[in-house]
Amino acid sequence: MAQDAIALLESDHQRLENLVKEFKSASGDRAAKLALAQIICAELTLHTMVEEEIFYPAFAKATGNEEMVEHALKEHQHVKDLIAKVPEAENLEGAIEAIWHHVQHHVEEERREMFAKAKASGMELATVGGRIQVRRAEVAAAIQEA
Ligand SMILES: [Fe+2]
Ligand SMILES: [Fe+2]
Repeated sequence: MAQDAIALLESDHQRLENLVKEFKSASGDRAAKLALAQIICAELTLHTMVEEEIFYPAFAKATGNEEMVEHALKEHQHVKDLIAKVPEAENLEGAIEAIWHHVQHHVEEERREMFAKAKASGMELATVGGRIQVRRAEVAAAIQEA
């Protein structure tokens, strides 16, 4: 049975938080830190992708609230711009800190506004969750083949 879409997205948020904690507490070894930073960026990229392709359109359809989606997309774009700077960042800690600062704010808004509205709308969260799981599996398979 498919997992609820909001539960899936929240478990991504939690996983990201754990990864950022791990990054912060990792020793000064640049290679290890860079590897963790890359995992954080890849997880974030996959998360924003399934939100943009699946959750946000389903939310807009269920609630008619296009404004909230547009606002979220702007925040995603900002995070993507920050992610693009990570490979060349001289200050890796600062680069991840800047991303995390923005992501935390964005996640808070998703939780407080968008997810609350989604739950109240009667949106088909299990169906949308199933689509998110299928898409994730496709992308994971494509990455393994590459
Ligand atoms: Fe988001
Ligand atoms: Fe999110």
